[in-house]
Amino acid sequence: MPVPHSVDPDDIPPATTEQVGMSSRPLADTFGRVATDLRVSLTDHCNLRCTYCMPAEGLPWMARPQMLTDDEIVRLVRIFVEQGVTKVRLTGGEPLLRPGVVDVVRRLSALTPRPHLAMTTNGVGLAAVADDLAAAGLDRVNVSLDTIDPQTYRDLTRRDRFDRVVAGLAAAHDAGLRPVKVNAVAMRGVNDHGVLDLLNWCLERNYELRFIEQMPLDAQHSWNRTAMVSAAELRARLEQGHRLTPLPDAGRGSAPAELFRIDDGPATVGIIASVTAPFCGACDRVRLTADGMVRNCLFARGEVDVRGPMRSGAEDSELIRLIRGEMWRKARGHGIGAPDFTQPARPMSAIGG
Ligand SMILES: C[S@@+](CC[C@H](N)C(=O)[O-])C[C@H]1O[C@@H](n2cnc3c(N)ncnc32)[C@H](O)[C@@H]1O
Repeated sequence: MPVPHSVDPDDIPPATTEQVGMSSRPLADTFGRVATDLRVSLTDHCNLRCTYCMPAEGLPWMARPQMLTDDEIVRLVRIFVEQGVTKVRLTGGEPLLRPGVVDVVRRLSALTPRPHLAMTTNGVGLAAVADDLAAAGLDRVNVSLDTIDPQTYRDLTRRDRFDRVVAGLAAAHDAGLRPVKVNAVAMRGVNDHGVLDLLNWCLERNYELRFIEQMPLDAQHSWNRTAMVSAAELRARLEQGHRLTPLPDAGRGSAPAELFRIDDGPATVGIIASVTAPFCGACDRVRLTADGMVRNCLFARGEVDVRGPMRSGAEDSELIRLIRGEMWRKARGHGIGAPDFTQPARPMSAIGG
């Protein structure tokens, strides 16, 4: 049963001794949702400059001392795991730009209970480390690729790295990081004409494709709802080449993608309607930024600092109290389209996508 939202976050009791070890209570919010999926941003730096994400000159990146150290990341993820998190996704920025990323994976895979470990990457640096990541305990990867046309890729990312991504995908597949998933954003007049080609390309290689609706998270604040390619429109475009049958069981749950069987299967394609059919009611996510802020939603207007207290010697119990307080403040939904919606100050790349 959802807990009434009238509870004041300041009324949350401090974590008890039992909660400092294995959690006796889930990481719940006031709507009864439970966070089990932690997104950890390893860095806000990126080696692409996707037009829908950031300006050509990049962004004022976080300075090294601002960023969590490996030890701090491992400590915080351990605390989250002890509070009921079962899935951890490493992201960024571009997570493969973090020095020591393989060692971070190795240390996270040694946690008890061991979380499922995944990574979202642009794939540019993946070929060189896919084997090491798999050996270190990474379970799966999602590679972001919005087009298979090299010229469109160059225009969209402002970098000439298409071949490296293709090699990265193949290396991930060979390393056993399967099923390899491909994430794509369709943008009107930019790459939407090529969504069917992208799907066919992924089908030929056994990669699972997921489209996500573009959200207002760009650093330039230029997102425009009317220009956005909706899930319905995307589906219609894909149906020009294939029969798409909604999987009866897709029922989404906390998995945001609506899955469609392609022709007679078994391959599927996912469409994540984050804007036109948000899945906030089933959200099970919580986020940790590279500079040590816990966020209860991509679109949260606030966040809680755990780096400062940690560096001042906070015990686990204090960090747990801060994390639980942040979850308690989680809103019912992201509010895109609501009259009072404002885009978060941090862009996607500095939150962790
Ligand atoms: C921000 S990136 C970070 C991880 C990594 N660098 C990568 O490219 O996968 C994560 C994902 O967010 C997606 N993304 C970025 N901006 C977005 C937006 N405004 N709406 C929807 N997805 C977005 C990217 O396409 C990418 O798939």
